[in-house]
Amino acid sequence: MRIEIVEGDITARPVDAIVNAANSSLLGGGGVDGAIHRVAGPRLLEACRELRATVLPDGLPVGAAVGTPGFNLQARWVIHTVGPNRHAGQTDPALLASCFSESLRVADSLGARSLAFPAVSAGVYGWDAREVASVAFDAVRGYGAAAPDSGVETVEFVLFSAETAQIFRAVLG
Ligand code: AR6
Repeated sequence: MRIEIVEGDITARPVDAIVNAANSSLLGGGGVDGAIHRVAGPRLLEACRELRATVLPDGLPVGAAVGTPGFNLQARWVIHTVGPNRHAGQTDPALLASCFSESLRVADSLGARSLAFPAVSAGVYGWDAREVASVAFDAVRGYGAAAPDSGVETVEFVLFSAETAQIFRAVLG
């Protein structure tokens, strides 16, 4: 599983699946969530409402992941995950690691070979980008080691600012 660092807008990435840093409601928000819904179009919100009305009546738990189509995005799928909110006292790195490993598990179940992650929890949810990078790389490597038959070949981290991209590069080494 190759890890790449990309500076830019995740909604423009030509990958099989992009990961959304959503909230438990799955009904949209700001940041990368808002950007993904804007580009994917209103059918994405409809798909999320359908999930809430059927399999996720109580919302998507922190650390879990679920897939929908990508609709107007280049990516065929969006994998929604909910990072821990540090401002709400959610400081357990295992919850954040779970966002990455569960998203990979969903990507495999969908048949995605390339996947792009944003810096989950490093925005509104208040985590330090260095810690997010470190947890994320460990989780991806751990998933790859535990699932040697995974079909995911490329994992991108798409960072919106040059500063965050530089932090991710430095942590990756
Ligand atoms: N492409 C890539 N990265 C982006 C983009 C983009 N288009 N836009 C923002 N980022 P955040 P969180 C970066 O706040 O901390 C939402 O309202 C951003 O600079 O989007 O997990 C949800 O609905 C930051 O580095 O996600 C939740 O309520 C990173 O993406 C809450 O925010 C994550 O920032 C989730 O908070």
